[in-house]
Amino acid sequence: MENNAKTELPEKIPTHIAIIMDGNGRWALSRGLPRLAGHRAGTENLRRVIEACIEFGIRYLTIYAFSTENWGRPEEEVQGLMQILEDVINRELQELHDQGVQLHHIGRLDRLSPALREKVLHAIEYTKNNDRLILNVAFNYGGRDEIVCAIQRIIRDGIPAEAVTDELVSGYLFTAGVPDPDLIIRTSGELRGSNFLIWQGAYCEWYFTPTYWPDFDREQLLLALQEFSHRERRYGRISPVEDNIAQHAR
Ligand code: IPE
Ligand code: IPE
Ligand code: MG
Repeated sequence: MENNAKTELPEKIPTHIAIIMDGNGRWALSRGLPRLAGHRAGTENLRRVIEACIEFGIRYLTIYAFSTENWGRPEEEVQGLMQILEDVINRELQELHDQGVQLHHIGRLDRLSPALREKVLHAIEYTKNNDRLILNVAFNYGGRDEIVCAIQRIIRDGIPAEAVTDELVSGYLFTAGVPDPDLIIRTSGELRGSNFLIWQGAYCEWYFTPTYWPDFDREQLLLALQEFSHRERRYGRISPVEDNIAQHAR
């Protein structure tokens, strides 16, 4: 599609979008820049995407910023990503608050430096009464780690086996109280889930685009929403149209 093409906002929009913000490194590499420059460009883009989500009336946005596996990257990159999180909070917190964004964190804060942990907790507390957009930041997040944590807490709470239900498990996850994502977007052309929302994403729709995250703009988000609006979510059943025909034939 042409860059200037105007894509309309569809009527049916997802309540909860989650994004695997991938491709920062390759974006930088293709410009002869260090990988961290790609991560910085990625955070600039995040601001634009948050604004677009607010404009489109999306209620929940979950972003994958740092996975439990990303600790395996070179020390310099890991430290750079920690610094970027700190800079983003310092620079953007007031603006996010003014826009009505409620910040949440999913994942574990225990491996972060005490100062960064405090900063994250302060940002959550500061924005807790906002309700225009709930922004879940997945930082040091892994879907398996989340399920392991949930099982540990269920056992510690002495929950009897018969009481362990789908709903109970959901309530023990980092995302307790948040509806499951309707749509997960992954940028950069990779076609995998990389340990993201593996429980919550059981019935989400997936949208993949080759665009690197720093270039994923408002128009691209609209295209993803357009595509989502045409998906039929059947949850294992058959299409309502077919079901109607089948009932009449009986
Ligand atoms: C995603 O971009 C951001 C993080 C994982 C922190 P990458 O850094 O994975 O970029 P590529 O995939 O190497 O291009
Ligand atoms: C997933 O991207 C994690 C984030 C975007 C934070 P990765 O680049 O780490 O995933 P893989 O290694 O390609 O699966
Ligand atoms: Mg990547």
